[in-house]
Amino acid sequence: MKRLLLVVFIATLGMPFTAAQAEYLIKFSHVVAPGTPKGKAADLFAKLVNERMKGKVKVEVFPNSQLYNDDKVLEAMRLNTSRTTGIMAAPSLSKFVKFSDTLQAFDLPYLFDDMNDVHKLVDSPLMDKMTDGLGKKGLRALTVWDNGMKVFSIKGDHPLRKVPDDFTGKKFRIQSSNVAEAMIKALGGTPQKLPFKEVYTALAQGVVDGQENAWSNIYSKKFYEVQSYISVSNHSYLGYLVVVSQDFWQHLPKDIRAQLTEILKEATTANRQYAAEADKEDRKKIEEDHYAKVVELTPQERAAWKQACQPVWTQFRGEIGGELLDEITGLLKK
Ligand code: SIN
Repeated sequence: MKRLLLVVFIATLGMPFTAAQAEYLIKFSHVVAPGTPKGKAADLFAKLVNERMKGKVKVEVFPNSQLYNDDKVLEAMRLNTSRTTGIMAAPSLSKFVKFSDTLQAFDLPYLFDDMNDVHKLVDSPLMDKMTDGLGKKGLRALTVWDNGMKVFSIKGDHPLRKVPDDFTGKKFRIQSSNVAEAMIKALGGTPQKLPFKEVYTALAQGVVDGQENAWSNIYSKKFYEVQSYISVSNHSYLGYLVVVSQDFWQHLPKDIRAQLTEILKEATTANRQYAAEADKEDRKKIEEDHYAKVVELTPQERAAWKQACQPVWTQFRGEIGGELLDEITGLLKK
């Protein structure tokens, strides 16, 4: 029944819209608040397209899971057969688990030391290698947008410092990633997959004790107001793959595709700036407020977390591809 409703809803996406608007309509769906790095980049993309491609392409942005949540949007994109109305989205890399084994590499704990490492990989030809397979699944990867490194939050009488003790008996909300699931288990906790829009309530009602996320999401969705501590673990990356339906993209006229690609490049440059700013500013706002207390891990604690996560690498090496993983780690060492 749910699938039928989704099909009917998607079919209506293809209905003609007024010619006064544009020849092509792109509905950009995302789950975060408009003021976050992804929200701002999506709005900038829409603004530039609507200014520069007036009459040809119109972009409408739907934030805060208004149109779809991330797990549904990829399905909706694949089912959409309209060649004049396309769906675009930027789900986190972790949410491609049903469509790509290789992209799981992004979730490996402690793969990246910092955002410079992330950009080394994202800007390398390895990125094409990792996203090529999505074409067969009806998805076309266009660019990667940042949020930032993830930190852990928890409700309780002490912060997460010691593994496995501080994780034991605690439930953590995670995205739909199998790697994140294995990571939480390796750290000693119990993982629970939940859509982003359910996280605040799950934390507030004690359905889960903690979660992992980037600063801007913890701030904009007020997770920190219902958590006691945030440990600055920087254990993995929260980033987004901007995707569109392969069929819609391939049938756009070449000049329109080229112009959209150029504008996306501008939005990507701006997104990196937004993400770097949000990382500092949203952390500061949380620290200055009276809710969750932010704690730094000692180098020894960080080393112990990293060590505890090693089995996750072994577990997923086969699925991700050993050769690819060696290429990635080789690149990051340079
Ligand atoms: C997002 O930033 O798009 C959502 C991340 C999450 O599900 O935690």
